[in-house]
Amino acid sequence: MKCIDEIPKSELKGKRIVVRADFNVPFDAHGNVSDIFRLKRGWDTVQYLRDAGARVVLLSHIGREPEETLAPVAHALQRFGPVVRIADLTGHAARGAVAAMKDGDVVLLENVRSDARETKNDESLAKELAAYGEIFVNDAFAAAHRAHASTVGIAKFLPSYAGLLMRDEIRVLNNALKPRSPSFAILGGAKFETKAPLIKNLLATYDHLFITGALANDVFKAQGFPVGRSRVSEELPGLDILQHSSLVRTVDVVAERPDGHAQVKKPQDVTAEDKIVDMGPDTFAAMTPLIEKANFILWNGPTGLYEDGYVSWTHAIAELLAKRAAAGASIVIGGGDTIAAIQDAGIGMDKLGFLSTGGGAMLEYLLKGTLPAIEVLGR
Ligand code: 3PG
Ligand code: MG
Repeated sequence: MKCIDEIPKSELKGKRIVVRADFNVPFDAHGNVSDIFRLKRGWDTVQYLRDAGARVVLLSHIGREPEETLAPVAHALQRFGPVVRIADLTGHAARGAVAAMKDGDVVLLENVRSDARETKNDESLAKELAAYGEIFVNDAFAAAHRAHASTVGIAKFLPSYAGLLMRDEIRVLNNALKPRSPSFAILGGAKFETKAPLIKNLLATYDHLFITGALANDVFKAQGFPVGRSRVSEELPGLDILQHSSLVRTVDVVAERPDGHAQVKKPQDVTAEDKIVDMGPDTFAAMTPLIEKANFILWNGPTGLYEDGYVSWTHAIAELLAKRAAAGASIVIGGGDTIAAIQDAGIGMDKLGFLSTGGGAMLEYLLKGTLPAIEVLGR
């Protein structure tokens, strides 16, 4: 994989550069961008290219429906620099706007998924998008696990490079593939069946793996504990996971009754009416000394149902990690849910180590050590 900063800046001047970013951000009830994390991280490459005097044609997806628009994103990007938004992807308006660009200009075209050919990795769309530039830069790490026209197909038609964010993400995640010992991984989320290979991987490569979130319910169920109304997966972990010496277990939980009352319980005391909504204090106490010793900590997935306000243990972990980061440990945190859940923990996000913009992409990279959109860069 080659990074765009390997080309002398002088050679970028006047060049039209197609930049695939991941500006897939959440909106609030008024339709405004509610979290600029991905925009802020993605802007560095745009600014780098502008400074070099390049003409930046920005592509991104937003949501999963073709009618979703990048208009609010264009608005939110203005705080970083001037962006001309074009409500078109491959028509006259888009082609005309690109043709009229001057050095240092930035044009944001419409949602790449507004074209049904995008997710099919259709070659004709890839070609049309490639025609906007002389160089392709992929900075959309969070979408690099998708083999789509704007992430994979386009690279066939242009010299293709990683952006600065893509480069940083890969650098850090390569360290996470071979973590410095003592290492500690935290994996939450749901759907055990999709995470089983990664869990086995992390158990083998990390000194400790703490399984949390809805995945912890799967561990309980597999051990024969009652889980009541808690979310559980279709498949459950087998003995290879349950008996692994690196597995750190949840030893107490916060259980919510149907009337909303929540209480700390031991797993065996969970009733049929209960819903497990978070881990408990004894679990935190058990993992604390392990985290305090760890040199490398990987975290993807909050411990509880943060959307329902169960964030206190996720925040407590974030505080612990901030201390470890200050003491020189390497920390990698990823997943939109995780970052959303710790954003109001009262800790500066810059104090928490490396925050990955990827969710699914991060997990897939950790499993496979590569992604489809990375494979096509700089060959
Ligand atoms: C994400 O938010 O996970 C990425 O932008 C990818 O989006 P997708 O899951 O809709 O492909
Ligand atoms: Mg996703």
